[in-house]
Amino acid sequence: IRTKVAIIGGGPSGLMLSQLLDLKGIDNVVLEKHTRDYVLSRIRAGVLEHGFAELMREAQCGERMDAEGEIHDGFFINDNGQMHRIDLAGHTGGNSVVVYGQTELTRDLYDAREKMDGKVIHEALDVAIHDAKTDAPWLTYRQGDETFRVDCDFIIGADGFHGVSRKSIPRDVLKEYEKVYPFGWLGVLSRTKPVSPELIYSRTERGFSLCSLRSQVLSRYYIQVPLTDSVEDWSDEAFWDELKRRLPDDVAAKLETGPSIEKSIAPLRSFVAEPMRWGNLFLAGDAAHIVPPTGARGLNSAASDIYYLYHGMVDHYLNGDSTGLEEYSAKALARVWKAQRFSWWMTTMLHNFPDRPDYDRKLQEVELAYLLSSEAAQESLSENYVGLPF
Ligand code: FAD
Ligand code: DHB
Repeated sequence: IRTKVAIIGGGPSGLMLSQLLDLKGIDNVVLEKHTRDYVLSRIRAGVLEHGFAELMREAQCGERMDAEGEIHDGFFINDNGQMHRIDLAGHTGGNSVVVYGQTELTRDLYDAREKMDGKVIHEALDVAIHDAKTDAPWLTYRQGDETFRVDCDFIIGADGFHGVSRKSIPRDVLKEYEKVYPFGWLGVLSRTKPVSPELIYSRTERGFSLCSLRSQVLSRYYIQVPLTDSVEDWSDEAFWDELKRRLPDDVAAKLETGPSIEKSIAPLRSFVAEPMRWGNLFLAGDAAHIVPPTGARGLNSAASDIYYLYHGMVDHYLNGDSTGLEEYSAKALARVWKAQRFSWWMTTMLHNFPDRPDYDRKLQEVELAYLLSSEAAQESLSENYVGLPF
């Protein structure tokens, strides 16, 4: 196969870029390791910032998101039983976020690719990158017993944290920054009415919890758990009991429980790999950076990479100007690090850290007390939560 842009990874990053490039007539191919059903079975992010929603519309994939997604212009922070509302719209001149699941938006992107006869190759195994430092990079992949070759101008590594792209960059070129947190999130999806129309982030003596949703009949809840716990340790009943203990009494009393339709544990990690370009290989999304989920930045950070890459590619192919591609890594990383800072801050403020010195615990308490007493601090939180400009 010969194409202009070869994209590794058919998650939201890869599919979005593929769709946007195709709409500008820039030929591309997506290589995805798993089946479409597998990709769509993973329950992940739920909160989209304004810029992401705009990009979905630009990709002509915004119709269902606009019809079914919910606009949220605020959320709650529960500080040990005391509920405080963060007025996102009031603090940002009317900005808001869209609650629309990653599963749904990935499905919309797949449908759009199919409608345009986009080249998305599933179950592409053993993807390998060749000659990324030259002007003639190429890829190989295997399907069954057959090996295929893809020649291209550029390779995009949008293959997530465990993908092959980042690992193809030599160790002496890539610098990795990492912070691992001593807990994970146990998440449950249930066909129940959400306990609150707006999200509730809770900091309690027993640990963090989050009440989120996918729709008015589909709830998504999370609780902080030790890294040593596994899903088998948590029956549905134990999960609901613990979640209730981490909510104000009147909220807990209203909580509708039911069987879990998905239950998983995600470890919390902060990670950045620099640079995000090596020769003609560009990293995007989780392949280059990970945040702990607390500030809902993961998917949104992926979207800003795609925005910069898309405009860089369009300038290169349609206007003969490669400045955007030259500046990609620096521009993307500047925004990535701001999302890192925000996610680390939200995570540190709202979770229980085992074995934390008393002094640090007091600082954590005052951080939240200050936030909840200061309009200026809430303005800063809101500015970051709705998404910094691209
Ligand atoms: P991915 O979604 O990881 O997509 C990468 C794709 O590449 C996958 O489909 C994978 O199968 C494919 N791939 C991997 N290796 C190869 C290979 N060698 N060859 C070909 N294809 C390959 N963010 C939030 O904002 N809120 C959340 O609540 C939240 N929860 C999360 C829970 C979990 C368990 C995880 C893992 C992430 C969560 N995130 C959340 C983060 C968010 O889901 C990611 O930031 C987002 O999925 C990034 O999209 P991506 O396309 O860059 O990567
Ligand atoms: C969801 C996840 C988050 O990490 C977050 O901050 C908000 C919502 C969710 O899965 O719904």
